[in-house]
Amino acid sequence: MSTTLATVITGASSGIGEALAKQLAASEQQALVLVARRTDKLNTLAQELKTHHGVRVEVIGLDLEKPGAYVELLKAVSDLGLEIDTLINNAGFGLNDLLADMPLDRVQGMMQLNMVALTELTHAVLPGMRARKQGRIMNIASVAAFQPCPRFAVYGATKAYVLSMSEALAAEEKKNGIKVIAVCPGATRTEFHDVAGNHGTLAMKLMDTPETVAKTALRSLKCGCPMVVTGLLNKPLPLVNRLLPRCVMVWLAGKSVAR
Ligand SMILES: NC(=O)c1ccc[n+]([C@@H]2O[C@H](COP(=O)([O-])OP(=O)(O)OC[C@H]3O[C@@H](n4cnc5c(N)ncnc54)[C@H](OP(=O)(O)O)[C@@H]3O)[C@@H](O)[C@H]2O)c1
Repeated sequence: MSTTLATVITGASSGIGEALAKQLAASEQQALVLVARRTDKLNTLAQELKTHHGVRVEVIGLDLEKPGAYVELLKAVSDLGLEIDTLINNAGFGLNDLLADMPLDRVQGMMQLNMVALTELTHAVLPGMRARKQGRIMNIASVAAFQPCPRFAVYGATKAYVLSMSEALAAEEKKNGIKVIAVCPGATRTEFHDVAGNHGTLAMKLMDTPETVAKTALRSLKCGCPMVVTGLLNKPLPLVNRLLPRCVMVWLAGKSVAR
């Protein structure tokens, strides 16, 4: 069976992933594979994209917090006769709480989804991309990657990992024709904040839309940037982090998410 190149988007059932799927369907003809747990939402989105843009869209319902779930995802993609040309590791969640008060299984799930599954999928797609001398990997990090953040201690650390790993990988794979980008959104109006229990915080007052984040992310991927911070107000954050003492940045980050 001949294979068709595809874009896989994890966490496409809402928020930034859904916005990325819509914008990609409108701008490219590459087959899309939408991945998340809520298949009802994915199927509705798939139908909408097929109807409006005539693009091939497949749905894979999967819990990426399950250790080894990436194997299932890769097999499902291969069974569809698809080969991954573009991987968007977007699925992720955070919890606004003190680490000591979080159930350990939620902490483990967060690390598994935000870091381990993302790394396993990235590792798995690289050989095919190298062989074709082309490929795109977009990893959704966060502005939480730039400094430690009290109440988001583990979440911030997972995003610091995503940022560091992606920027290094971008440098490693540039010569092989593979573009890698870490996207660092600030607070964005999505279900993330319901899941995180993040309501009433300062960060919530300065929110971008997922559509704006997706647009900036895709434009920057096209340019070959290894990293982009989305949202005008967030752009100075990497510089501010280098200029101000770390303890001040930690205090400010904690203030922005205090409830
Ligand atoms: N919103 C923000 O303020 C913000 C800021 C910076 C970075 N980010 C990052 O942006 C990314 C997208 O989040 P979002 O803001 O768009 O939030 P969202 O609307 O809650 O989307 C999260 C997506 O991840 C999927 N997901 C969650 N757990 C999963 C699991 N175990 N297995 C498979 N899929 C799972 C969800 O689908 P199902 O529930 O259907 O599985 C959903 O599609 C995340 O990595 C987040 O950390 C968000």
